[in-house]
Amino acid sequence: MADVDVCPIEELPPGTCKIVHAGQVSVGVYNIAGELYGLEDRCSHDDGPLAEGEWEPDGGIVICPRHGARFDIRTGRALTLPAYVPVDTFPVRVEDGVVKVNV
Ligand code: FES
Repeated sequence: MADVDVCPIEELPPGTCKIVHAGQVSVGVYNIAGELYGLEDRCSHDDGPLAEGEWEPDGGIVICPRHGARFDIRTGRALTLPAYVPVDTFPVRVEDGVVKVNV
């Protein structure tokens, strides 16, 4: 696991998401009401680009743009079919004003 810089915290206000790439892994970093979460940008159903899907900042739910499965961003848990396997999550923190995800 290694830290990857995402962006300055000012560029990730509540209700926004940024995608970062770290080797073979892409991660969507979400700001849900001031709390930061990292969710792998790969749907567990058929590898859909999860972080490109719409998401609901109030509920912390992302919707896969490929077949519509919903996931809990905070835990990675699949909430609706066709996905049933969770998606990996990654710890996110802020250091010296920079958002970092541990991938
Ligand atoms: S790839 Fe995400 S629901 Fe099918």
